[in-house]
Amino acid sequence: MAWTPILPLAEIPVGTARPAAVGLDRLLVCRVAASDVHVVDDVCSHDESPLGAQDLDGNVVTCPRHGARFDVTTGAVLRSPAPVGIASYPTRIAGGWVEVDL
Ligand code: FES
Repeated sequence: MAWTPILPLAEIPVGTARPAAVGLDRLLVCRVAASDVHVVDDVCSHDESPLGAQDLDGNVVTCPRHGARFDVTTGAVLRSPAPVGIASYPTRIAGGWVEVDL
């Protein structure tokens, strides 16, 4: 595994999602609970819109364009019009940073 620091944990309030980029990858860092953070693609599988910064609904993120919903713990799609899920990545907290393995 190759862990890449992506955002300081302190910059992500509990219950929110924050976008971040690693190289050309557009990612969304989702802090479900104090020590429960997940990283998914910040690209909706419906029409490639960014999901963007937002308050989470539990472990669910909502696309602002047409309302598709995804489980941030797995990337699974929960509501149409998204046809499939989004990628999710191994994530950990280390030294006060969120790290992702792409
Ligand atoms: S672009 Fe996300 S639901 Fe349409």
